[in-house]
Order: sequence, then structure tokens, then C-alpha cells
Amino acid sequence: MILKSFKATSFRNISSCEIEFSEGVNALLGENAQGKTNAIEGIYIFARGRSFRRGDERDLIKFGEEGFRTEIEYRDKTGDNLLEYSVYGKERRRRKNGYKLKGASELVGSFRAVLFVPDDLNLVKGGPDERREFLNVSISQYYPSYIGLYRSFKSALENRNAILKYAMKGHFYDENELASWSEVLSEYASHIYIMRRDFIKKLSKYAREELLLISAGCEELSLSYKSSFDEEENDAGRERIKGLYLELYKNNITREMSAGVTLFGPHRDDILIKLNDKEARSFASQGQQRSIVLAIKLAEGEVGYELSGEYPVYLLDDVLSELDCERQKFFLSKRENRQIIISGCDMRIADFKPDKIIEVKRGFFS
Ligand SMILES: Nc1ncnc2c1ncn2[C@@H]1O[C@H](COP(=O)(O)OP(=O)(O)O)[C@@H](O)[C@H]1O
Ligand SMILES: [Mg+2]
Repeated sequence: MILKSFKATSFRNISSCEIEFSEGVNALLGENAQGKTNAIEGIYIFARGRSFRRGDERDLIKFGEEGFRTEIEYRDKTGDNLLEYSVYGKERRRRKNGYKLKGASELVGSFRAVLFVPDDLNLVKGGPDERREFLNVSISQYYPSYIGLYRSFKSALENRNAILKYAMKGHFYDENELASWSEVLSEYASHIYIMRRDFIKKLSKYAREELLLISAGCEELSLSYKSSFDEEENDAGRERIKGLYLELYKNNITREMSAGVTLFGPHRDDILIKLNDKEARSFASQGQQRSIVLAIKLAEGEVGYELSGEYPVYLLDDVLSELDCERQKFFLSKRENRQIIISGCDMRIADFKPDKIIEVKRGFFS
């Protein structure tokens, strides 16, 4: 997949821009606070459906303006495509090739990208919610139906939690209603389980290969799915998984009622990351953790290729300074068939020649 251009009006500190990209490595070069991350944010919104930065959608509007407009042109195996996104007052407009899309989530699945930002170190160091978020965003790009599935799951979860909370307070509750929400929840949970399990399996295979290369064969990485079940259900089909969830809910009713929330399900899942058989979160050094994140990001691209037949676009925001010379070289050596858009203050360190250099100064790109 190739990003051909990004255009923006009144987006963050960008009054107006039209950036064209080369098919190879593109470097966004500039001092701090000039607009590099803003451009990457604007592009990545088309992959993820919303910003990767926290905050309100209205924060994206340039200070003092009424709204913003962004668009990208990209080429995939179906041909050339155009995605547009704008916010003015209460109006939100999202279009693909001129056709209206209903919500932000309908953007997801067309333009696909792997994002790598310094905060991604939290993939290893942070809590399970960081890893679930990563999984959800990544899986959605290849299986857009996952978004609706996850939403349905969350809404069933809220309903079930409301009953449990009610029961916790000693009120009378309807047993049949609780049972029927357990049934609905297990159904959604089992679909999510299978998609996550299979995705992590693929991710683990590639991430392991990448880390072996990065570490010259010294470090073995394994990713596995940590779910509500004691045993890994590696080959189980969906019906069995659904049955297992139902059993958990049935056997733990007293515990869940005294907690007032659902204690089992995909909302509690995690990816267990192990380096040489030890949990990376507690045992890996800072440098090893960086390599692991790098390996996972590269693996995400490989899984993308396996699932869709084309590489996603790699958006790397200010990560070169996070990596030492060897790792920078390793990353940048992986360019075949891949488009990379990388930002930084200084790229001499990497000892590489980008195909295109775009200078960024006060929201202008040249
Ligand atoms: N909504 C906004 N309107 C105008 N400027 C903004 C807005 N949001 C952020 N900025 C400005 O954008 C600049 C940061 O740009 P950023 O792309 O993060 O910089 P960098 O080049 O270091 O990646 C800051 O000066 C910030 O004040
Ligand atoms: Mg930045």
C-alpha cells in the first residue's frame, strides 16, 4: 500500500498543506514543535478512525478556526483511492472515493498503517489495557467487522454488569435476565477470543523471527494470549470457547455478584510477552524492551502482509532517537516493498539516505 499524498486545512498547527510522498523512505525533518507529529497524526486517523493522541476531536482544529479538513490519496491493489475527513461545527464528513461513510469506524480497513511512536514502549512496560488497545486497533484494520463485534460485546458487558451491581447491593434481580446476558456475552466473547488468539499466534511467529535477527540469535521472544481460561485453548473452535465462557459465568456467580462486575472475558485479556522464558515486563532491560517493541511493530506489518497481500504503510514518529545505531540500521534495512514515513530532528545518525526529505517548519512542509 502506498500513501501518495496528505492534504490538510486548519488541522492542528497546519493552516494548509499538500504533501506528496515517494514510494520508498520519506523523512519529515524539523525541529521540535513544528508539526511533524501533527502530520503523522492526521495520516494515521485514516487508518484508525480517530487520533492516537488522547483528547477531544475538537482539539484537532487549528486554534481560532471553526473546523478542519484532511484527505489522503493512496494506492492499494484495488487501485487509487481517496479518503476525506472533515469537522466543521457539529458536522462531520467522512468519504471514500466521494461516497459518504456513516461513522469514523467505517474509515477503518481501507488505508492500513503501522504506527510506531516513543510511547509504544508501554506495549511492554504498561498495563494490559495498552496491549488490548494495540490488539483491537491492529485487528480492526484487517477485520473491520471486529469493531462492531467489540462494540456489541461492550454493550452486553455493561448490561450484565448493571445486573451484577444491582445484585451486589442486595436488590432482587432477575436470574433469567442475568442468564440471558451471560449467553449473549459468551457468544460475542468467543468470537473475539478466536480472532485475538489467531492474530497473536501469527504475531508471535514473526516477532520471534525479527527479534532473533535483531539480537543476532541471542534473544527468544514469545507472545501468548492470556485469557480467562487456565489453559491455552490453542485449537478449540468457537462453540467450545463459548461453552467455556458460559461455564465460567455459571461457576463464579457468587464471586461476580460480590464484586458487582463481570470478572471473566476479553475485557480482561492480555498478551503475555516473554523474553528467554521470563516475563519481559519485569525482567527485560530498557534496551531489550525497545527491541521487543521494534520486533512487534515489524511483525505487525508482516501479519498485515499475510492477511491482506500488501504491506501497510509504516509511520514512525520520532523513534530513531529511541533506537541505537544497530537497531536503526536493522529497521531501515527492511524497505523492500514497504513505504516508510519517518519523522525526526536529525537523521544523520542513521546513516541512511531517504528517498524524499520533507522539511517541516511552523506547520509548513517543503
Ligand atoms: N489545535 C491546534 N492548533 C494550533 N496549534 C496546535 C494545535 N494543537 C497543537 N498545536 C501546536 O502544534 C505544535 C506541535 O506540533 P507537533 O507536530 O507535535 O511537533 P513536532 O514537530 O515536534 O512533532 C505545538 O507548537 C502545538 O502548540
Ligand atoms: Mg513530535
